[in-house]
Amino acid sequence: MLLTPGPTAMPPSVREAMSEELINPDVDPRFADRYDAVLDKLGTVFGTDDEVVVMGGEGILGLEAAVASTVAPGDRVLCLSNGPYGDGFTDFVESYGGESTLVDADYDDSLPLADLERTLAGGEYDVATMVHCETPTGTLNELSPALDLFDEHDVLTVVDAVSSLGGTPVPTDRIDICLGASQKCFSAPPGLAIASVSAAAWERIEDRDPASLYTNLLPWHGAEQPYPYTHLTTLVVALDEALDLLLGEGLDAVYDRHQEVAAHCRARGRDLGLEPYPGPERSSPTVTAFSVPGRATELQDRLREDHDVTLSTGFGDLAADVLRVGHMGYNADLDRVERAMDALAAER
Ligand SMILES: Cc1ncc(COP(=O)(O)O)c(C=O)c1O
Repeated sequence: MLLTPGPTAMPPSVREAMSEELINPDVDPRFADRYDAVLDKLGTVFGTDDEVVVMGGEGILGLEAAVASTVAPGDRVLCLSNGPYGDGFTDFVESYGGESTLVDADYDDSLPLADLERTLAGGEYDVATMVHCETPTGTLNELSPALDLFDEHDVLTVVDAVSSLGGTPVPTDRIDICLGASQKCFSAPPGLAIASVSAAAWERIEDRDPASLYTNLLPWHGAEQPYPYTHLTTLVVALDEALDLLLGEGLDAVYDRHQEVAAHCRARGRDLGLEPYPGPERSSPTVTAFSVPGRATELQDRLREDHDVTLSTGFGDLAADVLRVGHMGYNADLDRVERAMDALAAER
């Protein structure tokens, strides 16, 4: 039983959708219609009228494309961070010639707003990056105060909402480029990078005329030819089915289900003496990272071998100390999480 924080297990109907006969996305109008429908449904999940694009490639492609398309050599980018993905934006920025300024906090802390305010007062920035749910630490960041500051200072915002979109509300309408991925809360297969792009972001991208090729968002802009390369038809069909399930249930019901399952997971953890790594008030409804100092790999192995339950450890500095239960999408399910926690109780 796969209960990692992405890829998640997939609902049976999404798996079945993948066995539909293949159509050629470049010549068969049925694919274009389906793709348009997927974009409309994603607009509803994002809660925005901004243009949405779905690129063939996993989540990282979206992060890199957002930076490659908005950052030219010499551009100043503020990377706000309290986790590995927030820190990692500096690598993208530097690799496209931008000047990155990292404003960071400890991984178990909240976003450093006082430092952010000071840094913005001390210099001009073109673009800001940040992460909504830091999946490796199980932290959901409150974005509004940072977005207020970026608004005040007229900075274009890029937000990684890869592991929150579709599982908890994301303030997409306040974000210029908001990023998601198919294999997290949508419970579709990995392979599609999703982005909503504001008019201001398109303006900047057109101005920049990005030199990058495959990571350039510009060829995806506009209704005439919405996908410039052969699309990953089977994955789009699977995402379409996943979106039908999500919207059929209703976004509010989906968000409530994530909250309920997350609360249950943490209550079971507390009974076992396990606390969420960033503290309960900062933990994401989509993933719980339990602190298990020095025992993460051993517990992960025993759960997989003896109970057929696959969880994730942390990574980087947290690899040995954190065990993560992904309760997102199809896995935001009381029975599935109960089974994982029963297994953990047996091995604790
Ligand atoms: C917050 C966050 N951003 C980006 C990614 C990258 O997505 P992918 O692994 O699909 O490239 C992940 C994947 O786990 C993630 O958790």
